[in-house]
Amino acid sequence: MSAVELLRSRHTHAFQAASWINAKLAVLFHKAQAVWRRRRLRSGQKHIRRRFSDAQPGERDWLIGAEIKYGGMVMHVPRNKISSMDPRTDAQVTLGGMTGGDRMLYLNYGVKYAQYLRPLVREERSVTLAEFGILMGTGLAIWCDLFPQSRVLGLDIDLGHIRGNMANLKQLGAFEKNQPELYEYDQFLDNTQYLETILKGDRIDVCIDDGFHSVESIMTTMQCVVPHLADRFIYIIEDNVTVHRDIRAAYPQFTMDHKGPLTVVSNG
Ligand SMILES: C[S@@+](CC[C@H](N)C(=O)[O-])C[C@H]1O[C@@H](n2cnc3c(N)ncnc32)[C@H](O)[C@@H]1O
Repeated sequence: MSAVELLRSRHTHAFQAASWINAKLAVLFHKAQAVWRRRRLRSGQKHIRRRFSDAQPGERDWLIGAEIKYGGMVMHVPRNKISSMDPRTDAQVTLGGMTGGDRMLYLNYGVKYAQYLRPLVREERSVTLAEFGILMGTGLAIWCDLFPQSRVLGLDIDLGHIRGNMANLKQLGAFEKNQPELYEYDQFLDNTQYLETILKGDRIDVCIDDGFHSVESIMTTMQCVVPHLADRFIYIIEDNVTVHRDIRAAYPQFTMDHKGPLTVVSNG
């Protein structure tokens, strides 16, 4: 073997050895990372569970714990049914899918929800609560625990997802003290009369809009809901950063609390 060949073969062997060590190290590194992530997740969940069990119903930590208990964040949920007035293209409708169960922890809305709902819970008030956009029903499970003596209405263009998730929610302990009423509802339509039929004389104390999220759908929903609001009401609108301007212009008599993508309208 010539000196050049010897060098080349040594170089190849060294290179192969280094690659082998690198590959082994990479596998070890990934395994260690996975163990570390699992531990962190377990201790994080333990921490949240402890805070949840120490918290009072309606407090931020209680809301976060309840959301996790009933499934937590879900992503890429397919849009099986949409409004005939949905302005999106077919490609936009298919893209990504829907997300839910993310309001209390990930979006950090728990702070505002606690601020507005905790006083009602403390007063043990029997309320009529309507949630527009319910997806898998995580929110409805929380509201039914929070307001066991109340009417909880879930309205959505597609009730398929909650119906498919009902057994799972019940197995997780949901709806033991209160059952939600479910209604098919298109936020792009004038549903004032339909709401009157649903409400049977009751007035909405708490309204939550977590549906289509466009200015048009939010304002149309609000127009239909406003005639049915109680004298004292809380109206929470999620995930739209500009709609507070339209609401302020249309309803100057209402009190507005707006922070980023969350708007709370009330009359107090
Ligand atoms: C963000 S998800 C709701 C998440 C849910 N609130 C939760 O707690 O996890 C949005 C929901 O709005 C519904 N939706 C979309 N377009 C709608 C429309 N035009 N009218 C009523 N609901 C609609 C979807 O079917 C979906 O269930």
